[in-house]
Amino acid sequence: MKKIAVFVSGNGSNFKCILEHISKSKIKAEVVCVVSNHSRPGAFLIAKKSNIPTHHVNVRQFKNGDEYTQYLLELLEKYNVDLVILAGFMKLIPAPVVRAFKNSIVNIHPALLPNFGGKGYYGMKVHEAVIKSGIKVTGVTVHFVDDRYDTGPIIIQKKVEVFPEDTAEVLAKRVLKLEHKVYPEVIKAICEDQIEVRGRKVVWHK
Ligand code: GAR
Repeated sequence: MKKIAVFVSGNGSNFKCILEHISKSKIKAEVVCVVSNHSRPGAFLIAKKSNIPTHHVNVRQFKNGDEYTQYLLELLEKYNVDLVILAGFMKLIPAPVVRAFKNSIVNIHPALLPNFGGKGYYGMKVHEAVIKSGIKVTGVTVHFVDDRYDTGPIIIQKKVEVFPEDTAEVLAKRVLKLEHKVYPEVIKAICEDQIEVRGRKVVWHK
């Protein structure tokens, strides 16, 4: 059974959804810790209800980036983590952590990458940019994490329509609903070793 660390910055609705799948044994895995760059994100309340240890880890707590990286590596080692799930985590994962967890860190992004991705495109900012652009289709991307924002190998993409009367908030809800369907499916597949990475290409053996 894979041991999962979940990284969050906000509400944690994706985290909650994954946890529900685990508690119903739809995903056979264990969330061993939740990490956030914020001190009291909503996601920590969810974790505490399930007695999952939480850790507030922010680069600003450390003398430099190397110490931050070292701390993250030791934390993940302490919990024997197999898989890191970014669920609304808005910070870059340091390159040595990416190397140590090659193809074992996944992220969900609320648009169809490579559009509306990269530094500065996160959460509601993504949906605001999508609305402003006038595109008719957006969606969800789940990808493995590399050492840049939103550029790692893509595991799955699913689309949703954008309607002329949509606000960023309305669109965000539509996309989030799809995230809650797609992310557990991907995590289940990873936990069942159905996902193979061939360079940039990800193959799903169902
Ligand atoms: C989700 O929409 C997720 O795709 C997005 O933040 C939201 C977190 O919601 N992530 C990013 O923008 C990453 N670049 P949640 O805290 O309710 O799961």
